[in-house]
Amino acid sequence: MPDVIAVVPQPAVLDRTGDAPFLFTDATTVVVDGRPDLIGIAVLAADLLGRVSGRAVEVRYAEAGVSDIVRLRLVESLPAGDEAYRVVARNGRVDLEARTPAGLVRAIVTLRQLIVTAPGGVLRVPAVRIEDWPRYAWRGLSIDVARHFVTVPDLKVVIGLMSHYKLNVLHLHLTDDQGWRLHVPSRPLLTRLSSSTSVGGDPGGFYSPEDFADIVAYGAVRGVRVVPEVDVPGHVNAATHAYGELTPSGEPTEAYTGIEVGFSRLHADLPATGPFLTDVFADVAAMTPGEYVHIGGDEVLTMEADEYATFVAAASAAVRAAGKKVVGWQEIAHTPLEPGTVVQYWDTRVDPAPFVEAAQAGALLLMSPGSKAYLDMKYDASTELGLEWAGHIELRDAYDWEPSTLIEGVPAASVIGVEAALWTETLRNLPELLQMLLPRLAAVAEVAWSSPERRDWDGFRGRISQHAALWDRLGLAWYPSPQVDWTR
Ligand code: ACM
Repeated sequence: MPDVIAVVPQPAVLDRTGDAPFLFTDATTVVVDGRPDLIGIAVLAADLLGRVSGRAVEVRYAEAGVSDIVRLRLVESLPAGDEAYRVVARNGRVDLEARTPAGLVRAIVTLRQLIVTAPGGVLRVPAVRIEDWPRYAWRGLSIDVARHFVTVPDLKVVIGLMSHYKLNVLHLHLTDDQGWRLHVPSRPLLTRLSSSTSVGGDPGGFYSPEDFADIVAYGAVRGVRVVPEVDVPGHVNAATHAYGELTPSGEPTEAYTGIEVGFSRLHADLPATGPFLTDVFADVAAMTPGEYVHIGGDEVLTMEADEYATFVAAASAAVRAAGKKVVGWQEIAHTPLEPGTVVQYWDTRVDPAPFVEAAQAGALLLMSPGSKAYLDMKYDASTELGLEWAGHIELRDAYDWEPSTLIEGVPAASVIGVEAALWTETLRNLPELLQMLLPRLAAVAEVAWSSPERRDWDGFRGRISQHAALWDRLGLAWYPSPQVDWTR
C-alpha cells in the first residue's frame, strides 16, 4: 500500500516521484548554513523531528555528507512570495527550500506531516516533490483572552497548532468588559484593578510586557505574528472599572462577569478619553513588532453614529501615529477609512453594502464569517461547550465556503485573507479551547491557504482523518466529528 500523503492544507503542487522513500535513522541530522537567521529555524526542525522520532536530532552547520540528512536552504528559484517553499524527499535526503526563513517553517511542518510510521516502527517519508505557496497573505486565528484568560504556556500550544496548519496571524482580543489582559505602562491600573476577573467569576490574569514579548518571539520562530486588539469604544467595562475619569460621573463602573454585550462605552467629550486612546495604543504598538494593531469597534449599541466615527478616527490616528496599520471589526466600515485599513467581516446577518463601498474606497477585507469561522459555535445541538447565535458549525461547514465570493460585489483582490475566531464566554481552559479548534481550525486553514481548485471536501476528509494520531500523541483534546472516518 502506498504511503498516505495527508498534508493539510493541501499543497499547490504535489508529485510522487517514484523514488525510494526517505527513512529516518539514528544518524539523520538537520543540515543548514550557519547564518544567524537560519539557526533558529534549524533548531525548530530538529526539535519537531526529534519529537516525531523520539530521539534527539542533531543540527550541523555545513554539508555533512550527502546522505541521511534533512537539508534546509534559502533559494531564489521558487514562486514569488515570502512563504513559498519546496520539499523534495527521496532515499537518503530531504531538501527543504524556501526564499525566506518563514518559507522554511512552512516546509518543516509539511515534512512533519509527511512522516508515516511503517510496520516495525520505521519512520519514513514518501518520495515526493512539493512546491507550495499560500493563497492568502493573512491566515489568522483570533482568540478572546478577555472573557477567559489564556496563560502563556497554553497560548504557546495554540501557536504550535497554528504553525502546524500554516496559519500566520495570532489576533489577541486583549480587552473587554470582563477583563484587561495586557499590562500597559502608561495606565497601570488597567491590569492592577481589572485583570483578576473573568466570565462567571472564574480566575483572571494578564500578560506583562515580558510575557507579551515571549508570545511574540515564540510565534515569530514559528511563522506566526501577533496582532493585538484593544477594543474601543465599546466592550470597555474593564477600562471604565479601572479609570473612573473615563465615565461621565467620574466614578468607576462595577466589575462585570456576565456575557451580555453592547452596554459599555467611552465618551468622546471627556478630557481623559483622548489621552487614554493615544497612550494605550502607543504603548501597545510599541510592544508589537508586527505591522498591525486592531482597534475593535464592534457592537457599540449605545452611541450616535457621529461620536462612533470620531472614535474610529481617533483610535486609527493613534495607531498610525505609532507607525502601525489599522484593523477593525466590520462596524468601522460605516465610517470614513484610510485606504489599506483592514475591515474584519464577522456578522453575516447585516446589509453588506457598506463593506462593498469600503472595499471600493481602498479598504481590505478579512473574512471571519460567524457562520463558518467562529469556532466557538457548537458543532451541533449536543455540543456542551460554545454558543449558537451564528448557528452550528460542523467540520464541513467550516470547510465548504469561498472567501472571494462571500460578500457579493467585493472585488476578489480586496480580500486580504481569512481568520477563524474563538470567543471564550464558555471556554475556560486549554482542553476546552482545543475541543472547539480541532478539527475545524485545520478546515479554515485550508480555506485560507489552498487555491479553490485544489480544495475538495472528500480529499480533506481523508487527509484530516490521519491527523488525530498526532493530536492524541501530543495530548491535545479534539472533537471526533462524525463526518470523518478517523484513523487513530
Ligand atoms: C464580534 O463577534 N463581536 C466581533
